[in-house]
Amino acid sequence: MKKRILSGMRPTGKLHLGHLVGALNNWIRLQEEYECFFMVADWHALMSEYAEPKHLKEYVIDNVIDWIACGVSPEKSTIFIQSRVKEHLELYMALSLITPLGLLERCPTYKEQLREIANRDLKTYGFLGYPVLQAADILLYKAEVVPVGEDQLPHLELARAILRKFNHIYKQELFPEPEALLTEEKRLLGLDGRKMSKSYNNYIALSEEPGSIRRKIGNMFTDPARIKFTDPGHPEKCNVHSYYAAFAPERKQEIDELCRKAKIGCTQCKRALAEILIKLLEPIQEKRNKLIRNKAEIPLILEAGEKKARAVASATIEEVKRLLNI
Ligand code: TRP
Ligand code: SF4
Repeated sequence: MKKRILSGMRPTGKLHLGHLVGALNNWIRLQEEYECFFMVADWHALMSEYAEPKHLKEYVIDNVIDWIACGVSPEKSTIFIQSRVKEHLELYMALSLITPLGLLERCPTYKEQLREIANRDLKTYGFLGYPVLQAADILLYKAEVVPVGEDQLPHLELARAILRKFNHIYKQELFPEPEALLTEEKRLLGLDGRKMSKSYNNYIALSEEPGSIRRKIGNMFTDPARIKFTDPGHPEKCNVHSYYAAFAPERKQEIDELCRKAKIGCTQCKRALAEILIKLLEPIQEKRNKLIRNKAEIPLILEAGEKKARAVASATIEEVKRLLNI
């Protein structure tokens, strides 16, 4: 029996290289060994983006297309949209009954986002409940393993606290404890050296066109000590070099030496990187375009995923309802 995985992504924009190294490559590897449920967390997106839902549907489909184009397989994994499986909301309600307010108010991600996100009103009941819905996502499938980035660990801890309380109150080992599977910390910074993020517009989308990739890479900052070609460089201080490490590890050492000995110029170094990225994204974009042309395929995949997800989800909800006597 394969262990079960659930993971999700919020559809808040186009996917970019950060999603590829941070999550997708991991998912693609895991689907060989685990029974995987991969979910587009559209309700979670709304918890912060509720005032601007205009592009939500478009992002949902666009993200699924990218997942599949990158190699998430609808044959091996269950790919579905959170809002299509209403059982998520039922379990969310059931878990809300027992979730201590203090745990939510003290959650570090909650406090941080209230502090840092200034352009949205996040002082809502819904946003406070973000980790409760995430716990419902995981427990609905009785997932044993949850691949996430480090930033999500507090949410997993909360999910465990909630399920322990549930199991305790209703004297039943209904939910197994999910364990986090940390994505290897291959943090890819944005083009400007800040965190890669839609809001900083410092990313390369998986669907980015070659001309745009060349331009964006060409504009990256390099080691400021390299003013003249003959100035030796410090690749450890150069974001371009970290892109080599992430996308062309076989050339990392060589670039490192050429840079230190001033035998390669930054322009040339960046040009070569742009071509590497273009080559890497070419088959993904080809598959992406095929999926976009064949309009029937994605809806069929999502319907099939929804069905498989609901089969598991509704069985769990039956058990929960029996315990709650409704
Ligand atoms: N909160 C997660 C994130 O922002 C997305 C998510 C929603 C998720 N539900 C989940 C991740 C369940 C893992 C399991 O990345
Ligand atoms: Fe960075 Fe390459 Fe320039 Fe060295 S040569 S500083 S690694 S861009």
